[in-house]
Amino acid sequence: MKPPTTATPRRGSAGRHTAGVRAQDSAPADPLVVRPVRRGDLAQVIAIDATVTGLEKRDYWRSVYRRYGDSGHVERQFLVAHARERVVGFVIGEVRDWEFGSPPCGWVFAIDVKPDCRQAGIGTRLLDAICASFRLAGVRKVRTMLGRDNTLILSFFRSQGMMAGPFIPLEMDLGT
Ligand SMILES: CC(C)(COP(=O)(O)OP(=O)(O)OC[C@H]1O[C@@H](n2cnc3c(N)ncnc32)[C@H](O)[C@@H]1OP(=O)(O)O)[C@@H](O)C(=O)NCCC(=O)NCCS
Repeated sequence: MKPPTTATPRRGSAGRHTAGVRAQDSAPADPLVVRPVRRGDLAQVIAIDATVTGLEKRDYWRSVYRRYGDSGHVERQFLVAHARERVVGFVIGEVRDWEFGSPPCGWVFAIDVKPDCRQAGIGTRLLDAICASFRLAGVRKVRTMLGRDNTLILSFFRSQGMMAGPFIPLEMDLGT
């Protein structure tokens, strides 16, 4: 596993658009909105996740919704990017206090954009939005973790200004 990365993301490339979805607040005909998830979004979130993981984890997503979507806590965020009456991406994360001896910081633990809507600035918008929520919650640092071989997500986070941080993950098999 790649060590968690840590940084304050830079302003990204929101405003670009492709054939997929226009990623710009100021386009009145087709605005992209980043907002908290609603129960009615869940089926589309599950479908987007399934395109990345190949699994439809319905029970998992229902419990994520209960914990992050419906929590009413600024520390827990489950946001969707919504355009043309459909969900085109999502981001999930939360503020964790003093874990691993770290002062409170925001963790992004999932971000996905629908494949036909990528490279239009939507991932940047989602990350910007969750970072704004983390700031509101009082933290000034954001971290994430990614698969060592996932060069796409690494390129994305690097483009946002995130870099290797001071922590490394360790693991071992527990056997039977
Ligand atoms: C990573 C991801 C969220 C990026 O979303 P996106 O909407 O395409 O991102 P943006 O358009 O905001 O791109 C911002 C920057 O990321 C980088 N980037 C995005 N897609 C890239 C690609 N295919 N190759 C290289 N760099 C890329 C670029 O630097 C880009 O800036 P640029 O367009 O000015 O060059 C999206 O590709 C995705 O959902 N991938 C699968 C996610 C995944 O594996 N999740 C599992 C772990 S949670």
